[in-house]
Amino acid sequence: MLGDAASKAFFHTLAQSAFLQRIASRYGMASPRSFARRFIAGETADEAIAAARAIQAQGLLLTLDYLGESVATLAEADAATREYLRIIDVIVASGIERNVSLKLTQLGLDVDKATCVDNLRRILEPAQRHGFFVRIDMENSPYTEVTLDIFETMWQQQYRNVGVVLQSCLRRSEADTRRMIALGARVRLVKGAYKEPKAVAFQQKDEVDAAYVREMKLLLDSGNYPAIATHDPAILDTTVAYAAERGIANDRFEFQMLYGIRRDLQSSLASRGYRLRLYVPFGRQWFPYFMRRLGERPANVAFVLKSLVREG
Ligand code: FDA
Repeated sequence: MLGDAASKAFFHTLAQSAFLQRIASRYGMASPRSFARRFIAGETADEAIAAARAIQAQGLLLTLDYLGESVATLAEADAATREYLRIIDVIVASGIERNVSLKLTQLGLDVDKATCVDNLRRILEPAQRHGFFVRIDMENSPYTEVTLDIFETMWQQQYRNVGVVLQSCLRRSEADTRRMIALGARVRLVKGAYKEPKAVAFQQKDEVDAAYVREMKLLLDSGNYPAIATHDPAILDTTVAYAAERGIANDRFEFQMLYGIRRDLQSSLASRGYRLRLYVPFGRQWFPYFMRRLGERPANVAFVLKSLVREG
């Protein structure tokens, strides 16, 4: 069995394979038994809306993520932006919660930063008008500073319907947590999904977890409605205990989890009166996201292999 870091690195490499991504898009999630469906709500906005309605019926909150990242041309960035604008309209018409997540490399950050910022503004405008909250996901460490910079630019331009993500695996994140608290920005705290070099990131799980707990406490004490995004039962218990000890009401923060992961913990938290938001990804570009989920838990690979055998 691969070790944690090795499996993350292996699946990170697969996630970046354009060839495999093309095959995955062509093969699609056509089979209802496809294992990818456990983590991805579907390929179309309609499928995502149907999943969202089911989530809301369970009393949970949600954010929709139209999958896509690392686009290589301005035309692709424009297409992704237009798709987000369409999704905003679809969400408004459907009546589901108005909350989306997106990635800056999906809006052209690798091609031209100024265009990426324009594209983000094109989305934030109508999003603000329609009362949406927009979360900018955090990608791997070469994008950390530029993502926070772009976020701060939007913030200074009075876009307040937008939030950011910090990853506890990064050594810099404790300082970034204080930076975002000083700004009054809404932070989603995660451990970090990418394979990162030793120079910038903790390599041991206990270091990443300890940093997570330190940053969670900072955010609960002084942050603006932070999102504690993890499926780690020990950290969830620590957060619940810390909030109780400090008298922090349940409506001053929320928990977040990924669609299809640890449904047992999802319902346990919700039934105890905590706010829980599910991150609901959808779209044809599901392959890199799916590979990251496999890399987090090598046991998932066994399920994939079994489902392939069943389908074969
Ligand atoms: P950890 O990896 O320690 O897992 C704890 C437990 O959760 C495991 O023991 C297992 O039970 C379960 N689990 C975790 N992953 C699983 C999987 N793939 N399949 C099955 N079970 C699994 N990252 C990032 O870099 N940028 C971002 O913007 C985001 N955004 C984001 C939003 C939300 C709402 C969540 C919950 C997470 C993210 N992430 C993210 C991903 C995050 O960085 C991290 O990779 C995953 O949440 C897994 O880490 P845990 O905190 O769950 O802990």
